[in-house]
Amino acid sequence: MAVLTESIHVERVAKSRLSSVDFNNLGFGNHISDHMLVIDYKNGEWQEPKIVPYGMMELSPAMLALHYGQSVFEGMKAFKNEQGVITIFRPERHHKRLLRSLERMCMPAISEELFLQSLSALIEVDADWIPTSEGASLYLRPFVFANEAKLGVKVAEEYKFIILTSPVGPYFAKPVRVKVEEEFVRAAEGGTGFAKCAGNYGGAFYPTMLAQKQGFDQVLWTDAKDHKYIDESGAMNVMFVINGKLVTPRLTTSLLDGVTRDSILTLAQSLGIEKEERKVSVAEIEEAFKNKTITEAFGVGTAAVVSQIASINIHGTDYHLPAVTEASFQLRVKKKLNDIRKGIEADVHGWNYRVK
Ligand SMILES: Cc1ncc(COP(=O)(O)O)c(C=O)c1O
Repeated sequence: MAVLTESIHVERVAKSRLSSVDFNNLGFGNHISDHMLVIDYKNGEWQEPKIVPYGMMELSPAMLALHYGQSVFEGMKAFKNEQGVITIFRPERHHKRLLRSLERMCMPAISEELFLQSLSALIEVDADWIPTSEGASLYLRPFVFANEAKLGVKVAEEYKFIILTSPVGPYFAKPVRVKVEEEFVRAAEGGTGFAKCAGNYGGAFYPTMLAQKQGFDQVLWTDAKDHKYIDESGAMNVMFVINGKLVTPRLTTSLLDGVTRDSILTLAQSLGIEKEERKVSVAEIEEAFKNKTITEAFGVGTAAVVSQIASINIHGTDYHLPAVTEASFQLRVKKKLNDIRKGIEADVHGWNYRVK
């Protein structure tokens, strides 16, 4: 379906909530902007998009997403630079991942055109909600779920595609303590780990909660078969600097193909570091701690860009990473990526999608 931004029906709020938001103290995910975009899927096609005031919706308690889990989402960010230009960071790549998630969950595809125009139209309507202070952005949450009301186990025939936006502040992530998970599994090869589907997160809560009770912040997920190889951590991909090289687990069906991961791997060369995408074993990491060849470990994702790992618990022993300095790769790449997203550094890779 061809959708022109100008032709999307907009029902505006009677009174904006903008003045009630403290933009100096945003946090993450605490505020939802005035409007949301909603598109229904029925009779085998996506219907006309509508932009309406954000608020409660009437949904059936029998809707299939609640019972059988057909629910997928994306998370990305929009920025406004000093000239007032609004950009979204790599929405085309997020769209490709959304398509893979939708396909894996037997849900209907959404065209890139519909996805980009829907995002643009909603951001234009709520442009005043985009924070401009250092490190802040508008977080974009597109999601799709089965809203057909029926109790039988089946692939739904009706869905909703909704986009919410949320002004978020700088993410001051403190260094995290992680634990190599050797009992529980987030995803097995052939399962849904590569899809950004809701169930992956629900299933991760329990092992994460147990790890937190033991004093860790997150778990480092390992392969479902032998717990020998590292997959990812929490809602982040994971990277290491070993022997001066940037090392990250290769993509499989059990981990998410992170957009930040891809961006950092792309920037590695320009920051003068060799990169390796391959199987990373727990034994290799333990060995690297013992012979002091591991100098950095960090999580990478849209929310924080880079989140420093302070220590990794392997088979019950805490191994500590050296302190991060200005010369550390993780700080240099974080700055570079932030500068590109903010339009401070040239966008040579064409990552910033301009919202009209
Ligand atoms: C499970 C998981 N892994 C990795 C990531 C990082 O992906 P991205 O860089 O696209 O935000 C996320 C966040 O979306 C995630 O939820």
